[in-house]
Amino acid sequence: MTDAGLRPPLKWAGGKRWLLPELQKRWKPHASRRLVEPFCGGLAVALGLQPKQALLNDINPALINFYQQLQRGLTMTIAMANDESLYYQHRQSFNNQSLTDADRAQLFYYLNRTGYNGLCRFNKSGAYNVPFGRYKTIYYQTDFSAYSPVLSDWQFTQLDFEALTTRPTDFIYADPPYDVPFRQYAQQGFDWQDQERLALWLSKHPGPVVLSNQATDRICRLYRQLGFRLRYLQAPRRISCKTASRKTVKEVLAVRGF
Ligand SMILES: C[S@@+](CC[C@H](N)C(=O)[O-])C[C@H]1O[C@@H](n2cnc3c(N)ncnc32)[C@H](O)[C@@H]1O
Repeated sequence: MTDAGLRPPLKWAGGKRWLLPELQKRWKPHASRRLVEPFCGGLAVALGLQPKQALLNDINPALINFYQQLQRGLTMTIAMANDESLYYQHRQSFNNQSLTDADRAQLFYYLNRTGYNGLCRFNKSGAYNVPFGRYKTIYYQTDFSAYSPVLSDWQFTQLDFEALTTRPTDFIYADPPYDVPFRQYAQQGFDWQDQERLALWLSKHPGPVVLSNQATDRICRLYRQLGFRLRYLQAPRRISCKTASRKTVKEVLAVRGF
């Protein structure tokens, strides 16, 4: 296969490339099904499992537009450099101008590579407000032609997960923002009610379901009560980008319908 080993094109928090061996085992017997990812994020899982059919969703419009442009064949024509003034110029264009979807996708790629720590953050008025990153060197990809044939039969949507129309035979892999009970604010606006709403929605799906999350007590209790089987894993997690120190975090896989 020519497309084997395509890497996720963006930096994305919570990427699940490390989980692929575990997911492969569960996916393989079901590989003829449609893969549904309600929280596709950096696309590590879909690119790793390479389903024939997929419904890939994320609430982030800039992210989904980027993938839709990759499907169409994204060509990079903007200037790209690890340069602070160019970064803020491109950030302003991304926020202020009425852009074509193709231009928005190009700028989004550049901002994602060059901005601070691969963050994707918008202020209350919807403006992208990530500061310039502090990388020594950055590799900018200019040729995305390899992605277009791989993504061509996949469907991308930008919805809240509950608005997705699934089929009973779909294989769902759900990777929501982590349950972070000790933070003052919920990451990406995903609070405990959303975690409960998701668990209930997943429990109603008749086909195979795999959920990954941080193994907090309340997440484990929630999924156990809904009849999921739990498996615990150690997740690598970057704690500090300055020291690149890594600490492991306990992750849970909750499965049902197998
Ligand atoms: C942990 S990340 C997924 C990472 C992905 N599995 C990967 O390997 O890169 C969670 C994603 O959920 C998305 N998200 C947050 N709230 C959502 C919602 N209500 N519905 C759909 N997506 C949502 C975020 O934009 C984010 O991309």
